[in-house]
Amino acid sequence: MSTIPFDFTPLLPANLPPAAARWNGRVKFDFTGGNNDPDALPLEGLIAAADAVLRREGRTLSTYGLNSGPQGYRALRDFLTVKLKRDAAINCSADDILITSGSLQALDLVNNTLLARGDTVIIEEDCYQGSINRLLRMGVTPVGIPLDKDGLRIDALENALADLKKKGVRPKYIYTIPTVQNPTATILPLERRKALLKLAADYGVPVFEDDCYADLIWSGERPPALHALSDRGDVIYIGSFSKTIAPALRVGYIVAPWSVLSRMLALKTDAGSGALEQMVLAEYCTAHFTKHVPALRKSLRAKLVTLMETLRGQFGDAIGFDDPQGGIFLWVKLPDKVDALKLFQLAQTAGVAINPGPEWSVNKAHSRSRLRLCFANLSHEEISQGVATLAEVCKKEFGVPD
Ligand SMILES: Cc1ncc(COP(=O)(O)O)c(C=O)c1O
Repeated sequence: MSTIPFDFTPLLPANLPPAAARWNGRVKFDFTGGNNDPDALPLEGLIAAADAVLRREGRTLSTYGLNSGPQGYRALRDFLTVKLKRDAAINCSADDILITSGSLQALDLVNNTLLARGDTVIIEEDCYQGSINRLLRMGVTPVGIPLDKDGLRIDALENALADLKKKGVRPKYIYTIPTVQNPTATILPLERRKALLKLAADYGVPVFEDDCYADLIWSGERPPALHALSDRGDVIYIGSFSKTIAPALRVGYIVAPWSVLSRMLALKTDAGSGALEQMVLAEYCTAHFTKHVPALRKSLRAKLVTLMETLRGQFGDAIGFDDPQGGIFLWVKLPDKVDALKLFQLAQTAGVAINPGPEWSVNKAHSRSRLRLCFANLSHEEISQGVATLAEVCKKEFGVPD
């Protein structure tokens, strides 16, 4: 028998993404990704919900789509219509919602419905890496709009739209994370939301609103979603249970007019997203979501305070950040001489994982010395130790802190 492994390489189509790296386990202090707080995960509640829903209607697992059709488990969509109305002022019915395998699948469905190679879209300059990478892989040009303390700058958006129009380019959408932005954690105020929608209407460009962090605002109060503020049906809205319950469940959703949702549904060829997690979420969230989320926010806020205090203690005035009003990330600025990509590599070797700014921005110069730190998944002690190790590495290589 031959021991030479079969060579698949000549069979691979030209447009395949580069090969994935093998997973080598997590580093000791992991400040990366959008992982959640293990202490605040409602485990007992999920166990009870799984038991109850399976005993009551578990035999529906014998059908694709749980007798609810291809848009997802009906009880979960019913929960979402109530939740979105209560929290985000969105008026929608269960028929306007498509349950997806995480909001990453929602991003893919929206993109595959609307975008083609050569298209242009508008995004926030500092932006979720998963969104930037998807666009680049599709051969779509993202035009980045700078942010300030209140999120997307409307003057810059207006200039970009006018500039593109002059060039004969109509962007396919304005993608925004207006409520606890990733990575900056900014929250777009109501007036800017209205101004954004007005510009979108004036230029005939739809809005793509990504809203997975809005429940994590410390005060519990959020501005209405862009989707809620538009009466033109020009906002596609996506959300997720990853940040409020658990990312490993892989449940997200899209709210959009049927004219475009029906096109996305036709592209969703997986015969439905995982049913068990939809059932458990519906059962748990309908009864407990409003109690669970404040407890999660409290735990997250405490971890953020530990992170900010430790960073101040270790880096002193060398580090800059705004105190976020919610979320799981701190977006920090180090002195210009710090190369975040290099720091990322050195820190990794020392057992600390960070997200380097240039991977979370389309403006490489602006993000060169910035880092995104996720504080949700580590314990308070790990946060302190991790930051101390990061400061040690940074001092040795860049002389910061001095
Ligand atoms: C802005 C944003 N959108 C979408 C996602 C994808 O989340 P999921 O697929 O877990 O719902 C993330 C994950 O971190 C995110 O930050």
